[in-house]
Amino acid sequence: LNSVDEAVEAIRRGEVVIVVDAEDRENEGDYICAAEKATPEVVNFMLSGRGQLCVSILPEVAKRLELNPVVVQNDAPLKTAFLTPIDIRTAKTGITAKERSETIQRMASSECTVDDFVRPGHVYPLLAKQGGVLRRAGHTEAAVDLARMAGLHPAAALCEVLSDSGDRATREDLGNIAVKHDLKIISIEQLIAHRRVSEKLV
Ligand code: 5RP
Ligand code: ZN
Ligand code: CA
Ligand code: ZN
Repeated sequence: LNSVDEAVEAIRRGEVVIVVDAEDRENEGDYICAAEKATPEVVNFMLSGRGQLCVSILPEVAKRLELNPVVVQNDAPLKTAFLTPIDIRTAKTGITAKERSETIQRMASSECTVDDFVRPGHVYPLLAKQGGVLRRAGHTEAAVDLARMAGLHPAAALCEVLSDSGDRATREDLGNIAVKHDLKIISIEQLIAHRRVSEKLV
């Protein structure tokens, strides 16, 4: 694994990083990049993970864009907080890498408004807990934390990585992918520990 600082620097440069959660949680690796850096090329690469492309946002953005939970009662085992999926209003269908990039980058603008988007769309917003990985040890919070720590707008795109067989990519698979594409790879446990130390919470 890389250091958290290396991953934060990569996020700042607009690179995709791989973030793994605990082996006794999902035991998954997600591609993550800052929303404002999610160019069509970056989105196209992230879609090669073949998971669900989502964007983690903070409650204030969800409120401003009037994005509500997709269900009233969330029964998902880890309560992953899916909100109304949206597309940028100028999109033709919303699914292309370019159109999803435009949707994601617009969501990362402090000027975006509810009228910039149509619903339902093809980009899934996820509601991150205020307080990030110190509140919930999920990819949703790790994504927002990384963008914020990089000094960027606190919103980030994520997509799970599957193996060639379609199963969850193993740590070994993820290590190979990181080498192949020259990506930094960190764990949420590392991020939690790093924040505790750097914010003097220990
Ligand atoms: C969205 C998901 C992913 O697991 C994503 O990583 C967000 O979930 P969590 O915050 O629970 O890790 O289900 O496709
Ligand atoms: Zn640091
Ligand atoms: Ca999940
Ligand atoms: Zn996850």
